[in-house]
Amino acid sequence: MTDNPRDNSATRARWQTCLRLARELLLVGPGGEDLKLAYLHTLIDTGRLGPTRHPRKKILVIGAGVTGLVAAGLLKDAGHDVTVLEANANRVGGRVKTFRTTEHHQPFADPAQYAEAGAMRLPDFHPLVLALVDKLGLGRRQFYNVDIDPGTGSGPDVPVPPVTYSSFTGRTWSYGDDSPEFCEPDKRGNSWIRANRVQVRRADYATAPERINEGFHLPDDEVRAPVVQMVDAALESVRDYYSDVVDGKRVNKPVQQWIEGWARVIRDFDGYSMGAFLRDRAGLSDEAVEALGTLENMSSRLYLSFFHSFLSRSDINPAVRYWEIPGGSWRLPHTLHQGLLDEVRLGQRMIRLEYHDPSRDTDPEGTGAVGHDGWGVAVQTVAEDDPQAPPRLWTADLAIVTIPFSSLRFVEIVPSMSYKKRRAIIETHYDQATKVLLEFSHRWWEFTEDDWRDELESIAPGLYAYYRRGDDADTDSVSAPTLPEPEAGLLGAAVKDSGVTAEMRRLNGSLPLRGPAVRPATHCFGGGSAADNPNRFMYYPSHPVEGSTGGGVVLAAYCWSDDAARWDSMPKTERYVYALRNLQALHGRRVEVFFTGRGTTQSWARDPYAFGEAAIYTAHQMTSFHLDASRPEGPVHFAGEHTSLKHAWIEGALESAVRAALAVHQAPPVTDPGPDREGESS
Ligand code: FAD
Ligand code: ARG
Repeated sequence: MTDNPRDNSATRARWQTCLRLARELLLVGPGGEDLKLAYLHTLIDTGRLGPTRHPRKKILVIGAGVTGLVAAGLLKDAGHDVTVLEANANRVGGRVKTFRTTEHHQPFADPAQYAEAGAMRLPDFHPLVLALVDKLGLGRRQFYNVDIDPGTGSGPDVPVPPVTYSSFTGRTWSYGDDSPEFCEPDKRGNSWIRANRVQVRRADYATAPERINEGFHLPDDEVRAPVVQMVDAALESVRDYYSDVVDGKRVNKPVQQWIEGWARVIRDFDGYSMGAFLRDRAGLSDEAVEALGTLENMSSRLYLSFFHSFLSRSDINPAVRYWEIPGGSWRLPHTLHQGLLDEVRLGQRMIRLEYHDPSRDTDPEGTGAVGHDGWGVAVQTVAEDDPQAPPRLWTADLAIVTIPFSSLRFVEIVPSMSYKKRRAIIETHYDQATKVLLEFSHRWWEFTEDDWRDELESIAPGLYAYYRRGDDADTDSVSAPTLPEPEAGLLGAAVKDSGVTAEMRRLNGSLPLRGPAVRPATHCFGGGSAADNPNRFMYYPSHPVEGSTGGGVVLAAYCWSDDAARWDSMPKTERYVYALRNLQALHGRRVEVFFTGRGTTQSWARDPYAFGEAAIYTAHQMTSFHLDASRPEGPVHFAGEHTSLKHAWIEGALESAVRAALAVHQAPPVTDPGPDREGESS
C-alpha cells in the first residue's frame, strides 16, 4: 500500500479516516492548533468557556464521574442551567473510587487507612489532570511505580515541580512555581519478579535476566535480554513512522510528517492485535511472547488491539514519573462535586433518552421528529434507592451523555442514533479489571531482616526462629512459641482484635501450605512485584498514611482481562484468602501474622455503574467507529474516557469533558419553545 493511496475509493476513504484519527490522537485541531493547549486554557488558565451567542441554555449531564462533573462545572459557571443525573445513590466519581472510612462504613481495621478501587496514578505527561489537582489545592506527591531508596530525593517538605506541557507548536505551557530543590528519589528495584518458580529482584533481573528467561524456555538469541528490551526493539520500527532517533533520543518528525506518520501507523497496524503483531510482524518466538506477556502485563491483553498496548507502553513505563493525591483519588470528584451540590441528582439512573434532531426532520420515516413540548432532549430516570418511586422525566435543550457505552447499551434511545454510533455503543470492547486489597498492621514489605526479627520477637519470643525453622518442617508440628492469642493461630497473630474470620481460617487451613515460611526481606518502599500466580501484579503503598497506626493496605492483586475474570468468579472471602496466599508465595508465609483480616475488592466488570473497566479496543475498532463515538446526535453530545483516545485514564475523561462543554456552550438550542416551559415534569 502506498502512503497516499489512490487505488480506489475505499482505500482513499480509509486513508482519510486514518488521518482524522491521527489528528484526534495527537489533538491537532481543524486549523492545525493544539487542542490540548486550548483545553488547558479553558479548564486551568481561565476556568471559563468564553463568549457565546447562545447563553443560558438548559443542559442535562448524564453521569457524575470526573467527565460529567467537569463539564457541568464549566457550563454552570458560564451561566447555563445545568442538572447532572447520576445513577449511583451514594457517591459521585464513577471509576475514581477510594475505599475509605465514611459515616456508614469502615472498610479497614484502622479507620485512617484507604485504598484505591480505580484510578491510583497520574503520569507526568497528563497536564490537565495534574494541573486540575493543583488548581483545586488537593496537593500531590509521587506514586512510585518502581520502588525507591527512601534516603534519597528532596523529601516531602520541598514543593513539587510545576505542571508543564510541551506543544507541537513549539510553545511550552506551565502551571505552578518552579521548585529547583525538588529531586526525585533513586529507583531501587528491590521488589520481585516471580515466574516458573524462579524469583529474583527487579534490579537483578535487569542485569541478569537469564534465570527468569530460561524458565520461559527462551531460545539462545533471546535469553540474555530483559523482555522489556524485546518489546521495545519490536516497537522501534513502528516509532520510525513518526519520529527519528537524534543523538540516541526519539524526536518527533516535523508536524505534517508526524501526523501522517501516525496516520500510516493506524492504517498499517490497527487491524492487528498486539499478539499477532509481536509474532507475525516483529517475529518474536511464542516463548518470548509468553515471557513478555507475563512480565510486562500483556498476556491477558494480547488479543486486544495493537494500539492499546502500544500507547500504554509509553504510559505505564518505569521511566515515567507518576503522582497521587494524598488522602485518596476520591478527593478529586468530591471537590468538584462541592461546586455542584444543587445540580447533581444522585440515585437517578437514565433508562430512556429521547431527542429531537432537526437535521433529520426531512427523514422520510420522520424518525428524527419527537420533541417533548418543544424540548430538544427528554430523559427518563428511575430511582436507584427507591424502586417504588415512579420514573421521572427531565427535559432540556441539550444533553451531554458521559456514561460508559457499556451502560448506555441498556438505555432505550428514541429515535435510533446514526448507524455508526449504534455500532460504537454495541461493539466497543470494555476490558475487565479486578483489584484485591489487603490490610496489614505493619509495613512488613519495608522491613529488613533485622526488622523482621525485632517485630516477630516482640509479638512472641521465639516466633522469629519458629518461622525460620518452619521451612524444614510443617510449622504446626514445630513447638510453637507462646502467642498472644494462641487459639487464633498465626493468621493475624500480631493484630489485636484481628478481623480474621472463622471462614477465612477454615478456608486457609484446608489448603496446602503456600510457599516457604521465610523469603528474603523485601525491604522495598512503593513499587510493585509481578508474578505468574493469580495475583499477577502487586503494589506496595508509596507512602505511609497520615494519622494511621503504622500499617498499610497492599494492592495484593491488580489484574486485567482474563486474569481479572478468574477472580470475579470467587466470593469476597475466598478472594482475600487466595490473594494472601499468593502474596505469601513471594514474601514468605510469615507475613500472615500482620494480616488484619480486613480486605476490599473491586471487580469493575461486575460494577453496576461501570459495566467494565474501560473502553479498550480490539483490532479494527478504532478505524471502524472511534470517530463516531464522540460525534453529537442532534442535541445529544457525548463525552467520557471512551470518547477520547486516552482510554482508561482520567486525562482522556478531562479532554472529553472540556471538548463537549465547549461544543454545548456554543450550540444553539434545538428549538425555542417559549417562556413557560417546565424543566422537570412528573
Ligand atoms: P465514569 O467515572 O465511569 O463516570 C460515569 C458515571 O455515570 C458514573 O458515576 C456512573 O455511576 C454513571 N452512570 C452509569 N450509568 C448511568 C445511567 N444509566 N444513568 C445515570 N448515570 C449513570 N485513570 C488514571 O488517570 N490513572 C489511573 O491510575 C487509573 N487507573 C484505573 C484503574 C481502574 C481499575 C479503572 C477502572 C480505571 C482507572 N483509570 C485510571 C481510569 C479512570 O478512572 C477513568 O478513565 C475515569 O474515571 C472515567 O471517567 P468518566 O467520567 O469518563 O466515567
Ligand atoms: N490507567 C490504568 C492504570 O493505571 C490503565 C488501565 C489499562 N487497562 C487495561 N485493561 N489495559 O492502571
